[in-house]
Amino acid sequence: MTEEGILRPGAVALVTGASAGIGLATAEALAARGIRVICAARDMARLEALASRLEGAHALELDVNDAEACAGLLERLPEDLRGIDILVANAGHDVGGRKRFDEGDVEDWARTVETNVTGMIRTCHAVIPGMLARNRGHVVTLGSIAGMRVYTTGSIYCASKFAVHGFTDGLRADYAATDLRITEILPGMTRTEFAERRFQDQARGEEFYQSFAEIMDPMDIANAILYALDQPPSVTVAQMVVVPTRAA
Ligand SMILES: NC(=O)c1ccc[n+]([C@@H]2O[C@H](COP(=O)([O-])OP(=O)(O)OC[C@H]3O[C@@H](n4cnc5c(N)ncnc54)[C@H](OP(=O)(O)O)[C@@H]3O)[C@@H](O)[C@H]2O)c1
Repeated sequence: MTEEGILRPGAVALVTGASAGIGLATAEALAARGIRVICAARDMARLEALASRLEGAHALELDVNDAEACAGLLERLPEDLRGIDILVANAGHDVGGRKRFDEGDVEDWARTVETNVTGMIRTCHAVIPGMLARNRGHVVTLGSIAGMRVYTTGSIYCASKFAVHGFTDGLRADYAATDLRITEILPGMTRTEFAERRFQDQARGEEFYQSFAEIMDPMDIANAILYALDQPPSVTVAQMVVVPTRAA
């Protein structure tokens, strides 16, 4: 890393979905590098517990489906944390998913798109203007291998991640003439709370993870995110597909 790199101690990162899984691991990994992390999600008890053990961290209640909360997120931060250098737009789910399209609840489908796509758009829209004003910033979005190829019973989750892919490429095109860097991380199967939430059933979530020959740890994805952030300012990791070796 160079002195000018974005991962300099004291830099500010906002991580959405930091109360669990990949977001939580990313917050830990960033804090270990001396980054002041704004840990955002809906579950404040978890966020406060996390922030209290990470040096320089701050808990922010943020439902990415709440348009007003997203638009006003900077005003709700202490002044010294408003100059966000790094945004990890990670909040996402597949609650009610893994069902044939007609058999799923249409409101579950709508919420999945709202969180994974519209929520990401709202968060980026609140943060990117400041990055542009400072001509400094790195946005990391969480796509998925589900945004590269579809599978049965994945119509809506896959659609949401295909949208993340298009959105992220679009951001990179829009800001190509600036110093902003835009990265999409596309993980394969990673053991988090994702499956439990998807099925709304802990045992079923565990059974789902057990059915794979190999599965990654959230810190594996956090490490991939830090690799992208750690590149010299003139280098953009545009996309990184990270999969378990025995499922590749
Ligand atoms: N696990 C995998 O195998 C995998 C693979 C590829 C991609 N991904 C992607 O990685 C990202 C993180 O997933 P994960 O596996 O870490 O799942 P997870 O353990 O279930 O964590 C999801 C996080 O998103 C937050 N969240 C959900 N809805 C939210 C909302 N409306 N507003 C704000 N935060 C919200 C949750 O916090 P609260 O409930 O506290 O709000 C939680 O912190 C997602 O975008 C997912 O699609 C996961």
